[in-house]
Amino acid sequence: MISQYLYISTAPSLSREDVESILTTSERNNPARGVTGLLLYNGRNFLQLLEGEESELVSLMLRISHDPRHTGISMIDRKLVGERSCPDWAMKRVRIAESIEKRRTMLEADLPTRLDAQTRKIITNFVVLN
Ligand SMILES: Cc1cc2nc3c(=O)[nH]c(=O)nc-3n(C[C@H](O)[C@H](O)[C@H](O)COP(=O)(O)O)c2cc1C
Repeated sequence: MISQYLYISTAPSLSREDVESILTTSERNNPARGVTGLLLYNGRNFLQLLEGEESELVSLMLRISHDPRHTGISMIDRKLVGERSCPDWAMKRVRIAESIEKRRTMLEADLPTRLDAQTRKIITNFVVLN
């Protein structure tokens, strides 16, 4: 079993470069630590799904929680899962369509098929409610 964390945080005014840099760092660090996941940024909040060994996620969350680029981390869900939802991504960037009408369909196409229904619903609500 591996652990899966889902949290949101607040970052009101990050540049595109800031977000790119977080993704680059994640892609550099996560494979060696057996961490996979996805990251969404809607211009105001992050939502991140992290999966891996519990000890790795605890130490990663400690680093992430001290990162000055965001505040107000709120853990939405923490659970043990039988298989990864994002096995192929060190950190998948999930993009949010500009047009509200297109957001749901674009997300459906982008989200990993292995995501459980509850997590999928939380992520979809995060994307649509903006
Ligand atoms: C929203 C958010 C998500 C992040 N996700 C990760 C991650 O998945 N992996 C990671 O190594 N760092 C992540 N970071 C960056 C860490 O907070 C920290 O800056 C980084 O791990 C330091 O790595 P370095 O010592 O290699 O520079 C994230 C930061 C933010 C703000």
